[in-house]
Amino acid sequence: MKTYTTLAIDTSFDETSVSVVEGLKVISNIRPSQMEFHKKYGGVVPSVAKLAHEERIDNVVEESLKQAGKDYSDLDFVAVTKGPGLAIALEVGIKKAKEIAKKYNLPLIPINHMEGHLLSGFAQRNSENLSFDLTNLQEIKFPNIGLLVSGGHTEMILIKNWGDYEKIGETLDDSCGECLDKSGRILGLGFPAGPIISKFAQENRENMIFEQKNKNKSVIIKAQNKNSKREYQLPVTMIHSGDLNFSYSGLKTAFRQLVEKITQSEYATEQDRMQNEENIRRGLKKQEIYDLCSTLEVAAYRPLEIKFQKAIEKYSPAEIWLGGGVVASARFRHLIRKISKKNSLNFRVPYSSSLTTDNAAMIGLVANINLNFVENFKVLRSENEIGELDRVPSLSL
Ligand code: KG4
Ligand code: ZN
Repeated sequence: MKTYTTLAIDTSFDETSVSVVEGLKVISNIRPSQMEFHKKYGGVVPSVAKLAHEERIDNVVEESLKQAGKDYSDLDFVAVTKGPGLAIALEVGIKKAKEIAKKYNLPLIPINHMEGHLLSGFAQRNSENLSFDLTNLQEIKFPNIGLLVSGGHTEMILIKNWGDYEKIGETLDDSCGECLDKSGRILGLGFPAGPIISKFAQENRENMIFEQKNKNKSVIIKAQNKNSKREYQLPVTMIHSGDLNFSYSGLKTAFRQLVEKITQSEYATEQDRMQNEENIRRGLKKQEIYDLCSTLEVAAYRPLEIKFQKAIEKYSPAEIWLGGGVVASARFRHLIRKISKKNSLNFRVPYSSSLTTDNAAMIGLVANINLNFVENFKVLRSENEIGELDRVPSLSL
């Protein structure tokens, strides 16, 4: 087992992140937020993200090395996110990684961003007395199931061995995080709305009763506020599809319709709606916003609970590996942990929210793990190979 020191870069979306990882240990993980740029647009604007990456990347690399107390001469590898992500954002990180690899004569490793989320639960804090390191990974049994829930993806991965993956389910339209963000936007909760929805739902939990019901041919969540007796209904989508896929666009639409119904503000076209967003939520009482967050959370996570249980029955995994921004939700983790416990699965989740949202540490981690466990793991060594990075085949995650 070899413990490498890897400098990793991820500029796949809106975080300019650079990290130094030693074996499984996260030595530094710098992620200056671009949120101040994107908040005013209510989402990430690609050209704005690219400029912000370009402006910051040099400093973030230097800061990451400085915080780690490392120099270029201490590094064994440079790892960089090759995709998936925003092409013009990815380019910034790839260019910088190539530059460093050439200048300091370091081998370069292209990494799949989703594989980063998948292995993020193995990251260890930078502490002297580590009880878990690379040697412990030899004891892990397969197959395992990965559940990746972020702003860009909602997917289930069958992990047959280190580096050997099969996507067994994915969203057919929006991701779960996107559904939370867009629904929260209707409520005026800002961007990203996921964390605020989680917070409001948690604060409101005691006030709500939930019931799952069949209605015509579909399944709904019926929620009631115990105090006001006010009722809310949202669909639980795709649960009878017979596969392990997801769909969130129907829930997003149903949520908007529910808000429009409460505030009696129906609009005929999407354009009318966009122009009248404030009117749509005007008239919502504070308590109704809380109740809507609670109901949305239950409806959004229920398909994940149901399909996860189905996947367990089909594949008999030994472990569940959770990754992606939505995993920061304590409620989501609780629900999945409960199912894992019931099925005697080992449960792995990143140790901090700095590793659930996009970050470079998870990219360095994939490099350091796969260098030890995956045969023929692709490492670009010569200048020619590095120049051909774009031709390295990508995982279909
Ligand atoms: O992994 P991530 O940072 O970026 C992507 O690769 O997409 O995920 C961002 C997503 C957003 O949709 C955000 O609202 C959601 O993760 N998120 C949360 C929480 N924190 C972030 N959703 C629910 N509860 C949270 N605490
Ligand atoms: Zn991500």
